[in-house]
Amino acid sequence: MSALTSLIHRLFVRPSMVFRLLIVGSTFMMVSVVEAAPKDKERWDRKYGTEEYIFGKTPIAFLKKYLHLLPKGKALDIAMGEGRNGVFLAAQGFQVTGIDISETGLSKARTLAKEQGVSIETQVVDLETTELPANTYDVIICTYYLQRNLFPQIINALKPGGMVVVETYTVDHQKYRPRFPRQFLLEPNELLHHFKDLTVLQYQLQDDGQTAYASILAAKPKPVRH
Ligand SMILES: C[S@@+](CC[C@H](N)C(=O)[O-])C[C@H]1O[C@@H](n2cnc3c(N)ncnc32)[C@H](O)[C@@H]1O
Repeated sequence: MSALTSLIHRLFVRPSMVFRLLIVGSTFMMVSVVEAAPKDKERWDRKYGTEEYIFGKTPIAFLKKYLHLLPKGKALDIAMGEGRNGVFLAAQGFQVTGIDISETGLSKARTLAKEQGVSIETQVVDLETTELPANTYDVIICTYYLQRNLFPQIINALKPGGMVVVETYTVDHQKYRPRFPRQFLLEPNELLHHFKDLTVLQYQLQDDGQTAYASILAAKPKPVRH
C-alpha cells in the first residue's frame, strides 16, 4: 500500500483518530497522530441511535421511592438522555424540562412521553458551557452525569423549598468496571459535601454486586421570616 492509500484507509477505518496534516505543494505529510475522544454529542447521539432504550424506560428506584416528598411544580432533568426519569415525573403531574447534549436522546425522551400520554419540553444544551437560571425549579434531577461545577448552579437554580435528586456511580464501581474514569466517580459521602447547605432528606450508598452508586435527596431551605 502506498503512503497515501494507507493514510486514506486509516482516516476512514479509524475515524476516532485525528490526523494532523501538513500540505506541502501537492504532497501530504503526516506530522503527528493524536488519539482524540470523540465529542460528547457525537458519542451520545451514536449510542442512542438504536430503537432500544439503553437505560430502560423506568425511573431509578430512588426517585420512585421518594416521589411523595417532592414539591409539585416545575422540574428540570439535567442530562435527561432518553427520558426515563423526566417522563416519569411528567406522568406524576410535574411540568418537566429535559436538557441534554444529545438530540437523539431527547427525541427518544419525547417519544417515551408520547407513549405515556404526557408532554415534556426538551432543549439541546451543552452543560459545560451553560448557566442554569436562578430560583426557577421546584425539583432538579441529575442522574448518571457527573460534572461537579454544576452542583452550585443546581442549588442556585432551585426555588427556596425546592429539592434536588442526584444519583451516580461511586469509586466502588471500579470493582465492576475497572476502566471507568475515576474523575467521573463520586468519592464516598462526596454528595453530602456538595449539598451541605441544603437539608439532606435521604442519602444512600448502594452496591448491588453489579454497580455501586450514591443517591441523595436534599431540599433548599426557605428563608426564615422573623
Ligand atoms: C449516562 S447518560 C444518563 C442519562 C439519564 N440521566 C439517565 O440516567 O438515564 C449521560 C447523559 O449525559 C449527556 N451528556 C454528556 N455530556 C453532556 C454535556 N456536555 N452537556 C449535556 N449533556 C451531556 C449524554 O448525552 C447522556 O444523555
